[in-house]
Amino acid sequence: MPPEISTFAQSLGGSTVVAMRRKADALEAAGMEIVDFGIGEPDFDVPEPVKAAAIAAIQGGHGKYVDPAGLPQLRESICRFEKQCHGTDAPPENIVVTNGSYGALSMIMRAILNPGDEVLLIEPCWGPYRQMVRLCGAVPVGVPMPTVEGRFVLEKEPIADALTTRTRAIIVNTPWNPTGRVLSREELTAVAAVAERHDLWIVADEVYSELIYDGAEHVSVATISPETAARSVIASSLSKSFAMTGWRLGYCIAPPDLAAVLTKINHTTTRCAPSIVQHAAVAAFEEGLPSVEAMRDEYARRARAVARGLNQIEGVICPVPEGTFYALAQIPEQWGGSAAVADDLLTKAGVIVTPGAAYGPSCEHYIRLSFATSMDIIEEGLTRLRRALPPS
Ligand SMILES: Cc1ncc(COP(=O)(O)O)c(C=O)c1O
Repeated sequence: MPPEISTFAQSLGGSTVVAMRRKADALEAAGMEIVDFGIGEPDFDVPEPVKAAAIAAIQGGHGKYVDPAGLPQLRESICRFEKQCHGTDAPPENIVVTNGSYGALSMIMRAILNPGDEVLLIEPCWGPYRQMVRLCGAVPVGVPMPTVEGRFVLEKEPIADALTTRTRAIIVNTPWNPTGRVLSREELTAVAAVAERHDLWIVADEVYSELIYDGAEHVSVATISPETAARSVIASSLSKSFAMTGWRLGYCIAPPDLAAVLTKINHTTTRCAPSIVQHAAVAAFEEGLPSVEAMRDEYARRARAVARGLNQIEGVICPVPEGTFYALAQIPEQWGGSAAVADDLLTKAGVIVTPGAAYGPSCEHYIRLSFATSMDIIEEGLTRLRRALPPS
């Protein structure tokens, strides 16, 4: 018998999206055609200039260790991009380049949390935040948000009610997975006010910042005020905006003292983000923006089509997503729990959706559909859903 594995590590939960896909793989192997509305991964190819820059970096022999904070030219490109697209005023010293925003977020937790600290998670929320907080011996505290006209909104009162003397940080995600919301300046200002009054860090996950539709504006938490920027740390990446999920390139924007600590953690845990990909990422920021715009236009078309299709199903309410590539649809309570509904849709209709319960108890009567898939597949999936719902 090998020695024991850490009890704590063994207690970490798995991903609902991956579990649904594994179930679907078995059905697919048995001959069922699957429509996948589960996975949050762009179906577009990486922009051509990025591929060319990666090949040039390989051929130019740039596959060596680099500065753990990131290549200087990449950090400069990130600053220019953030300034131009979001108005964020951050010098290169504030940037730390990481392995995707998974890497950024887990390093941020390590940098700001002590064991026993509490972290407020705006619910519904992306599942890995909970595990990242727990990995630091800290305590995730879900804060369910109310809905107004079918949309989840961010309000100050539930946050204030969840505060204790141990609260150290609050995580906000805008554009917001799974809700498809883009948080307004007013909503973020409300969070900033609570954070300032109670001396909290704001961890802002802005990984979907470029995926905003029909006039929505992405507001970066760092632009609320200089005081807010001084207690905020942003995680972002090229995964969603540039269709580069597997390239694993992300970054943190942090006040300089925190950026220095994040750099040390990066050095200690990964040495640095992959150098070849860092060279390619410079090309993404310098030459890839027209591709982002084309992808955004197509996602916007899909967002409207998915919401329209879902709203045609009796009892289903789905606001048009303002951002991300997720539609969150409310389903009638009498249909039962979201896990059972999702299971039924998979086994009977061959459609993968993610049960809302994966994002917290307040999302129990919801299902999330990713529209990072072609219009034809979306139409086929919606036809199947119209046939299969309500569940029998
Ligand atoms: C809200 C949110 N944050 C972060 C990530 C991680 O993305 P990456 O590490 O590829 O940047 C995801 C991926 O699905 C996500 O949905």
